[in-house]
Amino acid sequence: MPDVDDAQDGKDYHIGVPMQSNAFFLKGSNSLDWGMKNRLARIFNPATGKTVMLAVDHGYFQGPTTGLERIDIAIVPLVPYADALMITRGALRTSIPAEMAKPVVLRSSGGQSILKELSNELVAVDVEDAVRLNASAMAVQVYIGGVHEHQSIGNLVKVVDAGTKTGIPTLAVTGVGKELVRDAKYLGLATRICAEMGAHVVKTYYCEKGFARVAAACPVPLVIAGGKKLPEPEALKMAYEAIDQGAAGVDMGRNIFQCEAPIAMIQAVRAVVHDQEKPDKAYELYLSLKRDAVPNRS
Ligand code: 5RP
Repeated sequence: MPDVDDAQDGKDYHIGVPMQSNAFFLKGSNSLDWGMKNRLARIFNPATGKTVMLAVDHGYFQGPTTGLERIDIAIVPLVPYADALMITRGALRTSIPAEMAKPVVLRSSGGQSILKELSNELVAVDVEDAVRLNASAMAVQVYIGGVHEHQSIGNLVKVVDAGTKTGIPTLAVTGVGKELVRDAKYLGLATRICAEMGAHVVKTYYCEKGFARVAAACPVPLVIAGGKKLPEPEALKMAYEAIDQGAAGVDMGRNIFQCEAPIAMIQAVRAVVHDQEKPDKAYELYLSLKRDAVPNRS
């Protein structure tokens, strides 16, 4: 029985002071339930509204990608510098220590390989397993204009519905087939469809022309993929321009883990995303951190 001997009437009711009721910091997210908001606030830094998500899920369709041959060796040291880790359940369970306190964005679609049609995916994780793994979000690929467009939208819907029951947000990833052009018209179509189908965050590619319109027309936070490895100054410039034009962060893989100095690069990306550092300054930061890490290389 609770100890009631010392119970006293409270005094600090602040009568006349309205109950605080602030809008949630992420766009399009104010009507979500507390658990969803709390998970999103683990992925996105509430102080900046942005995220640096480290994507290491490439093996789910392309096997041991360069830089990901040994996730335990190459990726674990990067985790402290990321805001969130996008990863498959297989890689998480086998290669990432459970002591890691970073939020997990769990790759939840799959079922194909680079040898076959990429859009032929299914839901590849049961939501119960996402709960078991303490996932902060589930990630599903959506192939607008792809051979299996309908099926991939169906996968998104299933994951959004399962996540809504358990309070886990869904990140929709716009997969773009080789035959499609990554311009603002296409990316605007794909990202908007994902958000309208219930995705809580959308991941897409940056495009040189019209990205601000893509970001503005997406009613939930938009993060960009890095895409294939670029020279570091170009990758930092792309991240800067995306943030400047409305992206809420990056979900970057190869442009970090395929760098000669990945820890230096992720810190330079953080400077761009969270501190709006200009790309040339961020590149200087990369070079100086790289010199410290690998003293004999410039
Ligand atoms: C695979 C993915 C990857 O996570 C995505 O491509 C991000 O990685 P990168 O920055 O290397 O493009 O969603 O389809």
